[in-house]
Amino acid sequence: MASHHHPLLFPILALLTLFTPTLAAAIDEAAIPLLDEVFGLIAFKSDLIDPSSHLSSWNQDDDSPCSWRYIACNPATRRVSSISLDSLSLSGKLGRGLRKLTHLKSLSLSNNNISGSIPPSLGFPSLQSLNLSRNSLSGAVPASFLDLDSLKFLDLSHNLLSGPLPEDLFRNCSSLRWISLSGNSLEGSIPSTLYGCSALNTVVLSRNRFSGSPDFTSGIWSLSRLRTLDLSGNSFSGSVPEGVYRLRNLKEIRLQGNGFAGTIPWDLGLCPHLNRLDFGDNAFTGPIPEYLLRLGSLSHLSFSNNLLTGNLPDRISELTKLEFLDLSHNGLTGGIPSSIVSCSGLSVIRLRGNNFNGTIPDQMFTNLGSLVEVDFSGNQLVGALPPASPAFFNSIQILDLSGNQLTGHIPAGNGLISSGLKHLNLSWNDLHSTLPPELGYLQNLEVLDLRYSTVHGSIPADLCESGKLAILQLDGNSLSGPIPEEIGNCSSLYLLSLSHNNLTGSVPSSISKLSKLEFLKLEFNSLTGELPMELGALENLLAVNVSHNQLVGRLPAAGIFPSLDASALQGNLGICSPLLKGPCKLDVPKPLVLDPFANAGDPTRTRNRNPESPASSSSGHRMFLTASAIIAISAAAFIIVGVVVVTLLNASARKRLAFVEHALESMCSSSVSKSSGNLAGSRLVLFDSKSSSSLIRRHLTDDETNNPESLLSKAAEIGEGELGTVYKLPLGSTGRTVAVKKLDGSKIVQFADDFDREVRLLGKVKHQNLLSLKGFYWTPRLQLLIAEYAPNGSLQGKLHERGPSTPALTWAERFKILSGTAHGLAHLHHGFRPPIIHYNVKPSNVLLDADMNPKVSDYGLTRLLTQREESHVVVGYAAPEVACRSLRVSEKCDVYGYGVVALEVVTGRRPVEYGEDSVVILSDHVRGLLEEGNNVLECVDPAMGGSWPEEEVLPVLKLALVCTSHVPSSRPSMAEVVQILQVIRTPIP
Ligand SMILES: *[C@@H]1O[C@H](CO)[C@@H](O)[C@H](O)[C@H]1NC(C)=O
Ligand SMILES: *[C@@H]1O[C@H](CO)[C@@H](O)[C@H](O)[C@H]1NC(C)=O
Repeated sequence: MASHHHPLLFPILALLTLFTPTLAAAIDEAAIPLLDEVFGLIAFKSDLIDPSSHLSSWNQDDDSPCSWRYIACNPATRRVSSISLDSLSLSGKLGRGLRKLTHLKSLSLSNNNISGSIPPSLGFPSLQSLNLSRNSLSGAVPASFLDLDSLKFLDLSHNLLSGPLPEDLFRNCSSLRWISLSGNSLEGSIPSTLYGCSALNTVVLSRNRFSGSPDFTSGIWSLSRLRTLDLSGNSFSGSVPEGVYRLRNLKEIRLQGNGFAGTIPWDLGLCPHLNRLDFGDNAFTGPIPEYLLRLGSLSHLSFSNNLLTGNLPDRISELTKLEFLDLSHNGLTGGIPSSIVSCSGLSVIRLRGNNFNGTIPDQMFTNLGSLVEVDFSGNQLVGALPPASPAFFNSIQILDLSGNQLTGHIPAGNGLISSGLKHLNLSWNDLHSTLPPELGYLQNLEVLDLRYSTVHGSIPADLCESGKLAILQLDGNSLSGPIPEEIGNCSSLYLLSLSHNNLTGSVPSSISKLSKLEFLKLEFNSLTGELPMELGALENLLAVNVSHNQLVGRLPAAGIFPSLDASALQGNLGICSPLLKGPCKLDVPKPLVLDPFANAGDPTRTRNRNPESPASSSSGHRMFLTASAIIAISAAAFIIVGVVVVTLLNASARKRLAFVEHALESMCSSSVSKSSGNLAGSRLVLFDSKSSSSLIRRHLTDDETNNPESLLSKAAEIGEGELGTVYKLPLGSTGRTVAVKKLDGSKIVQFADDFDREVRLLGKVKHQNLLSLKGFYWTPRLQLLIAEYAPNGSLQGKLHERGPSTPALTWAERFKILSGTAHGLAHLHHGFRPPIIHYNVKPSNVLLDADMNPKVSDYGLTRLLTQREESHVVVGYAAPEVACRSLRVSEKCDVYGYGVVALEVVTGRRPVEYGEDSVVILSDHVRGLLEEGNNVLECVDPAMGGSWPEEEVLPVLKLALVCTSHVPSSRPSMAEVVQILQVIRTPIP
């Protein structure tokens, strides 16, 4: 008894005990059991959580609960007969207080969030109806929780109940009429006691994990009052034998989604009231019993996904009430009987994936005026598409006749304008048709799939009158002519797929208006010209393929385009992309015209040019436009999503979404995982990039893991950076090495969480030209960064601190370093939102791996600094806006730094050189040489011994000067720098 747990009950009971004689005299004799019910309900309430105070009227001071909300009493006995607490957002547990309610007939707690298990002795001798559905009850169904003697209705559906049902659960079930256990995780077989519940009319055991072979012959078929039997969505097996005829009242039988096999019992045809029959997703074999087709009441019939063979009998016409017929994915053969047009109420007919042959019955689309969905795809149907009536177009929403050998014109009748058709799929047929312009009248069309259906002619301009079209697939036809400019009206399109046709002309720039577009497939056509730059604005594009056309020139500089790889671009006449071997054809002059002075805003220019000559100014401007046009040449500066060409065309929209999510996941999946313990105030975190961190971990002793400071004892110091000392740390005998940077604590943020957040962000940066961070160690005293080790030191060392025995960098190496550095910075700027700004681009932060590939280091670390100190603004590298701190600093300050590095790489000189009585600023010096008409090539590093190609060195110098423009907006973006370098390296015919 729970009452003594309740703080309020004990005093009341004590009171009752003490004063019983007085009270008994004072109150009527029914009061004591009534007070019992009050206690019971208050105890029950105290186990529940009632956030909205629905039960506030349940007051322990009341004499009787009959006036409380949600309670009903028998007017004669004044005992509680019913409690209905449905949908009151109650949580908490089912206590035992209810045992006091000895006269309770109906208890309903449906659609709350009550958890815990069902108490073993819920105990209601008089209960007739119990509804605990749609809660979070868990655990097993207790063997004797109910005295079922009087129970008629039991609903435990949609909870979290598990385990097998106790064998004697239904021992006393002579009154039980209705039971649902649907949507739990119950398992095991059906307890045989259930078969003795002879009053049952509804048995719903669907969506559990029940298994075994139910006893039909002497069990279920003997429940002669059964109207609804639902065993769907379990793991039942075995056959379904004859004998079902004994269920004279059967209306619904649902066995779908199990492992039943054998033939379909023919005597289902003897259940005259059968309305719904679903045997889908099993392994039934043999034919559809002809006897079944006598069922004049049947409205829903599904045998989909079985192994049925034989024909669809003519007698199907006797199913006059049939509304839903799904026979898809069986092995049915023969023709579709023309008598089916007598089933005049048919609204869904699915015959997909059988071997039906012959023609579609002639009157199918004229006589059947209520069809909503017709799916005959994947059969061997031949002949012409049958005519269709206006009524058909009014009702139909999904028409899928794909994968047959149908011919003739795409149905185009009257009534198209008001048509509700949403999904039209005639792909993989032999239509030999044109695209009728009337398709544009289909106001509700969302999916049009006519792939590989021998359609010819041009794409009608008004295909998208309605604006609802989301998927347009016309691949593999003989469509010719241009892609109409009006395609831009298809504002809902997210998949546009026109590959493998004979389309000509250029790609219309109006495609850039399709802001929802995710997939653009134009490969294998004869499209010409350059892709419109505006396409770069399509932010949602995930996959593009324009391969095997006759395209030339630049790719759009933004969006997905710079990351397209060869498979998406190859086979054209000359698309310019660093990821593409082969020619690059431009309509613009060679980039040697790069003019670093050609910008009105550049102070050096106004200072040095003749201000009275407007002609020179305008020609300068024009030249700059040329340069900026070149700037946009296609390139892949960064690869955000590894998605490239998609062979998704057959995937359903859902599969596409899954694909997209997967792609995004693999891109975003935080490669970060926390490892070793949070020692008090210190933490060691290794970013899990698969092998490397486990490698690191494997070679750290426990002691080192717990005390990474001891690492430094066996590491060799290899340099001193602004942010601290760098050590080299070999990992055991593997030959692998990592770099450890000991940060100078006085400059670093002292909050572990800030540090953690910033460094974890940097840990996600992965690019071949960016030194990858492998982990960090933090204590208030000591901060270590663990990074990739670059064996060839820094560019600074190779350029300015080279010993006499070290050979000078060749031009090829220098170009590789500049190009890689640009790629790395472009990834930081364009691969992240917000962009990661380096703030400190200079040769000592460009490290070199064994193959002289550059790896930019120390990116983003300035965010860790307590404040942006003057000290890290290095004269010569800092862009003017950084130095003067008055302007908005953007990633363009890195472009400035890059420009200075490029000047150093070409000239071999330091950015600022202090002479006896002068200071030489490298960028001003080179700019001066160029301006004054001197041979600027005189400044090229003599250490290269004169072996360098002028046609590369000169444009690189000019690019460097554009990058060091004093006005940030005049500098190209890093993506554009990557593109320009690519063009400089690409021989132009
Ligand atoms: C349909 O296929 C059956 C064999 O399954 C064949 O006997 C019959 O001739 C075919 N009918 C047509 C019209 O091709
Ligand atoms: C494309 O057009 C050319 C010439 O007009 C023709 O030879 C070729 O067969 C056509 N290709 C297709 C797939 O229709």
